[in-house]
Amino acid sequence: MSTPLDRRQLLRASALSATSLGAAGWLSSAGPDDAPAGVPIQELRPGEGDEHRGRCVISSGNGMAATARAMELIEKGVDCVDAVVAGVGIVERDPNDMSVGLGGLPDADGQVTLDASVMHGPSHRAGSVGCLTDTVHAAQVALLVLKQTDHVMLVGDRASRFAREHGFPKEELLTDRARQAWLRWRSGLNPNDDRLDPDQALGTEGELEIPYTTGTIHCGAVDENGDVSATTTTSGLSYKIPGRVGDSPIIGAGMYVDNEVGSAGATGRGEAVIQSCGAFSAVREMEAGATPTEACLRVLERIASRTKRPYLLNSKGEPNFNVVMYALRKDGAFGAACMRGSRTFAVHDGEQNRLLRATSLFE
Ligand code: GLY
Repeated sequence: MSTPLDRRQLLRASALSATSLGAAGWLSSAGPDDAPAGVPIQELRPGEGDEHRGRCVISSGNGMAATARAMELIEKGVDCVDAVVAGVGIVERDPNDMSVGLGGLPDADGQVTLDASVMHGPSHRAGSVGCLTDTVHAAQVALLVLKQTDHVMLVGDRASRFAREHGFPKEELLTDRARQAWLRWRSGLNPNDDRLDPDQALGTEGELEIPYTTGTIHCGAVDENGDVSATTTTSGLSYKIPGRVGDSPIIGAGMYVDNEVGSAGATGRGEAVIQSCGAFSAVREMEAGATPTEACLRVLERIASRTKRPYLLNSKGEPNFNVVMYALRKDGAFGAACMRGSRTFAVHDGEQNRLLRATSLFE
């Protein structure tokens, strides 16, 4: 019989493998770890994104609806910051995306908590919320922090109260599907408690898949004047320790904008992105002359070389988790790169909205 520690190691290993390989099954159409079902992935010819000029919206692979909506608004003259927040709002409201907003996977206590950030290039103002509860549109609340306060970040109950004060309705974020996933996860935690393991309870054989995600949506946009804004919004790491905040609401980690340079964002293992100041670093790389794709790759290389904990490394000494970086330059050049495997990103270049394959650092 496995000990609790064995069990935990097994769960951690399967969670990491779900993260690095792309969780199938329940998560196959949800979150940026997988291409959305039925949408063809296009291969960029080398340098194509870096050569693009003009208005552009970039998002994670789960953001095709967001890029379409944001570009539609930008073409009508809406400010990029309002356009990207409206774009990701479609995914925040989508119960089938288990990495963002409504339907997001909960924390270890079964509560869905959301993190989001927004940054407006022309004014260099930022807003963010961490551990927001009972509110679907975390990015909109972050935008309110930006617009209506002199602060940058609100967290926890007080962030939720702030949302209520501004008219956001209290809404249940835990869908039945996400609750079932959490129940399965919880029942497999400890072989010595009185809950049957998911396979035992259902009489199935082998390991039932428990959906797991570090998925998120990032969306950045530049208009024809070269003004840039971006947002990142997420339900964060599945089954996280209650109170955990990831990279998404941290300005400079999961999202950053410098209107003189461009924007960047991240999805995937937030702890690695925080420890590398991922989005800020990508923007600084572009300022120093890197193309957007090069900037993303350099951040990933830095994450890889600074990852030391053995359980986060594969047999080759490479990170066994994924991070995807997205970068958009002020002139409209764009790029994305992932740590490993096949990851996608969405781009609307003003003419077409496409799902593209990100450059991979390893493999
Ligand atoms: N990147 C999302 C998270 O780690 O919370």
